[in-house]
Amino acid sequence: MAGIRDPFARPDGSRAGTPEEFYENRAYLKELMQRYVYGYMPALPRKSEVSEVYREDILGGAAVNEYRRISFDGLSMKVRIAYPRGAKKLPAIMRLDYLCGREYAPSVENEMLKAGRYVFVTVSRRDLCEDEPSSREGLPYAAEGLGAVGIWGLGACVCLDHISGMEAVDASKVALTGHSRDGKAAIFAAAMDERFAAVIPNGSGCGGAGSFFVRGPGSESLEIIVKNLGAWFSERLLDFAGEEKLRKLPVDMIFSLALIAPRPILCTEAENDLWANPRGTFTNVTAVNRICEFLGAGKNVCGMVVRPGNHDQTDADWRALVEFTDRVFYGKAPETDMNRKYFDVTAGDIPWEIPKKQDG
Ligand code: GCU
Repeated sequence: MAGIRDPFARPDGSRAGTPEEFYENRAYLKELMQRYVYGYMPALPRKSEVSEVYREDILGGAAVNEYRRISFDGLSMKVRIAYPRGAKKLPAIMRLDYLCGREYAPSVENEMLKAGRYVFVTVSRRDLCEDEPSSREGLPYAAEGLGAVGIWGLGACVCLDHISGMEAVDASKVALTGHSRDGKAAIFAAAMDERFAAVIPNGSGCGGAGSFFVRGPGSESLEIIVKNLGAWFSERLLDFAGEEKLRKLPVDMIFSLALIAPRPILCTEAENDLWANPRGTFTNVTAVNRICEFLGAGKNVCGMVVRPGNHDQTDADWRALVEFTDRVFYGKAPETDMNRKYFDVTAGDIPWEIPKKQDG
């Protein structure tokens, strides 16, 4: 199977050759990703309402925990916002998850709240659309053809609107994360919405940070995901199930990462999580780093960290995440090497060149 698709390709068959041309071509990449992978993102609702607010002191009064219900377009979702008491304009880490009463809070969260460094936001995206809809019938935004991943991503964008007005939050410093299906949704949200300043997908795999075309052993294929979980994506993706058909797919997940660049991306992965295609993810991270450099953002803007273990977002992943956001928002050098060479990336994996710098 050929390597990853070329995000510099333009609709007329030529290639974007300068950063300006690359930025101009993004409208085309967005169109392609929505048409083939996610379905179309509706316009952000102009109005959303907050109906329930519950507030409690936590950590002996060092921080505040709030639950709010945000309603829009006939839907509603719960969000949890935890912030250091008296916080003003702090970076925020938002995660797509499910608030079901027994939420997992990584140990680093309490440390960061006590230290007054971050606001933590959880979006209960499953309130908008269940985990594994058996069909797209009855899905919200069915008219736009948006799949479940897109709906969850929309939830993050609406939540960002909402927290942008908070005194505690610096809206220009919001990082987005999610595990697995939520990692896919985090990538979609950030590809469509430039307000997210950094993205940390965890084990996001097929339809996330992993390539459809460069796959390691034991990884999930496009065919398998659309056959099992078709309603997560655009209906059109089903047309590419099968090796022969896949060859005709004009997009790859590097397009979404290219839409996020030069904003920083960290992929957190697990050694035994072959299903999530760490090899195809590493290939994309390598490619997106080259794109960031081409755009003038410097070397190693993006990274990948692989820990021992299985498919999960653990405390270790959260520690890597915070090291990364500390670098992005606080300029602090991470202790962990986020640019280790986990795999060999060949010219067959990335079969296109970064355009040469033009003179003048
Ligand atoms: C399934 C699916 C993966 C997905 C995972 C999850 O395993 O095949 O693509 O990432 O569910 O969301 O947990």
